[in-house]
Amino acid sequence: MLLQFQNISAYRGLNLALDSISFEVDAGQNTVVLGPNGAGKSTLLKLMARELYPVVADESDLRIFGEDRWSIWDLRKRLGFVSPDVQFQYNGHVLGLDVILSGFDSTIGHVDRSKLEPDQIQRGHQIADELGITDLIEKPYRKMSSGQQRRFILGRALVHQPELLIFDEPTTGLDLRGVYEFHKRASRLIASGATVLLVTHHLHEISPEIDRVILLKEGRIFREGTKVETLTDANLSELFGFPLSVSCDQGFYHAVSKA
Ligand SMILES: Nc1ncnc2c1ncn2[C@@H]1O[C@H](COP(=O)(O)OP(=O)(O)OP(=O)(O)O)[C@@H](O)[C@H]1O
Ligand SMILES: [Mg+2]
Repeated sequence: MLLQFQNISAYRGLNLALDSISFEVDAGQNTVVLGPNGAGKSTLLKLMARELYPVVADESDLRIFGEDRWSIWDLRKRLGFVSPDVQFQYNGHVLGLDVILSGFDSTIGHVDRSKLEPDQIQRGHQIADELGITDLIEKPYRKMSSGQQRRFILGRALVHQPELLIFDEPTTGLDLRGVYEFHKRASRLIASGATVLLVTHHLHEISPEIDRVILLKEGRIFREGTKVETLTDANLSELFGFPLSVSCDQGFYHAVSKA
C-alpha cells in the first residue's frame, strides 16, 4: 500500500481543513482528488510532506509506503512532488539545470555540481531534453516564465524515477503544448510502473490513465469511485455549487456551465 489515510483531520490555523478523511492508494491505483478552492487538497499534501501534522486521535493513522513515521528526506527516492509551493520556494538565482539536479537530494536551492556523479549530471540533461527545456538549463530560474519554471520543477521530481508521484495543479501556467507534453509524460510514467496521485480543481488535468476519483468538499470525502461513477453532472454541480454539464472527449473530461 502506497498511502493510507485513516480518519485523518487537520487544522489550518483555526480552520478544520480536513475532517476525518479515510482513503488508501495501492500501487497502480492512479487517483485524482478533485475539489473546489479551499476544499483541503493542498492540506492533504502538506500532511504527506510533513509540513503539517494531523490531529492526534486514537483511531487515526497516516502511512506512506507502510510507514507511520518518515521524513521527506527518507522518501526522496520513492516520492516525487510537483506543487505550486515547491515552485515558489525556489531561489531565483538558481540555474535551470540545478533545479533539476536538486531533486537528487531533495534540496531547494544551491547545488554543487562538482559533488554529483557524472551519471547524475547526465540524467539531469536527459530529463531537460525530454521536457524540451535544454535551451534553458543555464538560465536563472527568476528569468523564466512560470510555465518554464513548472517544467523544471517537474524535472526535479523525476530524477529518481519515483514510485509515487504527487501532482498539485501540475499544469497551472503551462501552455497548450506544455499541457499536452505533461499528459504524454504522465502516461509514460504510469506505463513504466509509477503511481500518480493528482490533486486539482481542473477536470482537464485528469490524465486518461487516472481512473479513481475522490471528490473532496469542505474537508470531507463527498464521493469516491471511477470517473464514470463520480464525474456526473449532478455530482460536479453539487461539488462546485453551480449547475454544470460534464462531457468526455478522447478520455479527457470537461465541464461547462448549464446556467
Ligand atoms: N495558512 C493558512 N492559515 C489558515 N487557514 C488556511 C491556510 N491555508 C489554507 N487555509 C484554509 O484551509 C482550507 C483548505 O485549504 P487548502 O489550501 O487545502 O485548499 P485547496 O483545496 O488546496 O484549494 P485550492 O484549489 O484553492 O488550491 C481553506 O479553508 C483555507 O482557507
Ligand atoms: Mg491547493
